[in-house]
Amino acid sequence: MQLQGKTIVVTGVSSGIGAEVVRIARFAGARVIGVDRNDPSLTLDGFVKADLSSVAAIDAAVAQLPERFDALCNIAGVPGTAPVKLVADINYLGLRHLTEQALPRIPRGGSIVNVASILGAEWPQRLAPHKALAAAQSFEAGAHWLRDHPVPQESCYQYFKEALIVWSATQSQQWFLDRGVRMNCVAPGPVFTPILGDFVSMLGQERVQADAHRMLRPGFADEIAPVIAWLCSDEARWISGANIPVDGGLASTYI
Ligand SMILES: NC(=O)c1ccc[n+]([C@@H]2O[C@H](COP(=O)([O-])OP(=O)(O)OC[C@H]3O[C@@H](n4cnc5c(N)ncnc54)[C@H](O)[C@@H]3O)[C@@H](O)[C@H]2O)c1
Repeated sequence: MQLQGKTIVVTGVSSGIGAEVVRIARFAGARVIGVDRNDPSLTLDGFVKADLSSVAAIDAAVAQLPERFDALCNIAGVPGTAPVKLVADINYLGLRHLTEQALPRIPRGGSIVNVASILGAEWPQRLAPHKALAAAQSFEAGAHWLRDHPVPQESCYQYFKEALIVWSATQSQQWFLDRGVRMNCVAPGPVFTPILGDFVSMLGQERVQADAHRMLRPGFADEIAPVIAWLCSDEARWISGANIPVDGGLASTYI
């Protein structure tokens, strides 16, 4: 994988999958600018501290990013043990807002990668509401739509990962046609990162045990990160609108 000469903005760089993307992308020659609410603990080419749940903070962060960059990896996220509004704001509405604000700085041939989840796999069951939410075209309009269509705490993580997959797919074609910028999702299965424990409490022991029999083990962050970094490379130039599972085959066992 070649990333020489590319500048990549990565959110969620201070832990888990985001930190591994930084390491791998820099090793492949990229210049990486990180964004996170926590300080990073590895070498970056630039860092912007920001809370990606707030429009004002996102706008202030974008103002500090380079005038031009080749790719944006939206990796920051919280588990469904966080309050519903926070999950909506960080995992979906804020991600969308950051991406829309960043888009004018991404030239033709650029790439956007959104980290979804295997837990977003049931999006076809709720396609109509996810399309309606995608049509609410600003952070505030989306928040307003969600006030009228409340999402339960128990399934909020799944709901907003599903919504992210649907928005990414439906939005990607226009951006690819109009601007030559690709957008894809990567859907990890369970990964050994600090939030894995939250997923266990979120899903319950029964589901976790059922999944445990369907896979070898949870993945490592360095097994997810190369796919995200590769989607930023020119080798992936004909991939857009996809949602790529990186889960040791777990999703395939549900077919
Ligand atoms: N770990 C898993 O099992 C798993 C599985 C599927 C998908 N994912 C997704 O992968 C992504 C990365 O998760 P991870 O496992 O590396 O978790 P992690 O907790 O190790 O990393 C998440 C990072 O996001 C940052 N972040 C969270 N909220 C933020 C905010 N408001 N503003 C700025 N930064 C914020 C955190 O500071 C942290 O550095 C998330 O979107 C998560 O939903 C994780």
